[in-house]
Amino acid sequence: MIKGETHGTASNDPRGGLKDCGDAPLARGLPIFPALRAKPAVKLRILVKSWGSSVANHASPAANAETAGDEPTRRDFIYVATGAMGAVGVAAVAWPFIDQMSPAADTLALSATEYDLAQVPEGQQVVIFWRGKPVFIRHRTPAEIAAAKKDDAASMRDPQTDADRVIQANGQPGKAEYLVVEASCTHFGCVPTFGGGSFGGWLCACHGSVYDTAARIRSGPAPQNLIVPPYTYTSGTVVKIG
Ligand code: FES
Repeated sequence: MIKGETHGTASNDPRGGLKDCGDAPLARGLPIFPALRAKPAVKLRILVKSWGSSVANHASPAANAETAGDEPTRRDFIYVATGAMGAVGVAAVAWPFIDQMSPAADTLALSATEYDLAQVPEGQQVVIFWRGKPVFIRHRTPAEIAAAKKDDAASMRDPQTDADRVIQANGQPGKAEYLVVEASCTHFGCVPTFGGGSFGGWLCACHGSVYDTAARIRSGPAPQNLIVPPYTYTSGTVVKIG
């Protein structure tokens, strides 16, 4: 008997026309799947890749033929559809957690602070809080401003002119007499005190950083000038920080 003669033949043989050939032992073990006897390539795919889903698809030879031609496309579609459904499910579950991280309206309102600089006498400073951080607002004297401008061209670790130090967040020039800076040393965050050091400005006693009257770092370990928060003037003397 020549192998392959019996593939796909109809006969009265209760074994579906199967003879002793290379495929017969495998097919004999699965008598309920006539398609497995008819198409060896499909049979192998069914056995190796998709045992469970193949049961329904191989109820008839016609269905099997259709499956043999279309199966990859359908499977791809199922994969894509399953992936898309999974992504939608993850997004639906994750959204409440993401959404709760958005700041509430009252929190956003607190993110900006307004202050009337007219409350600060010349030569004095106040500490206000913006987003929980202390901020110095200093009403500088003409002598402090002059000292800062005189050193604009000096060698500095974090070079900035005095005009740079009072510029508004919108890029417009500020007022030289009012210096607004965060009250945290840029070394490790201590609060400097005014009047110490050799530059007439602030001294951070924690490790000896010295800032001048424009709050620029002049000596000590701090790497940067005191930070100027974003602010704009909303009227003649009222600033909005943040
Ligand atoms: S924290 Fe200011 S010098 Fe270290």
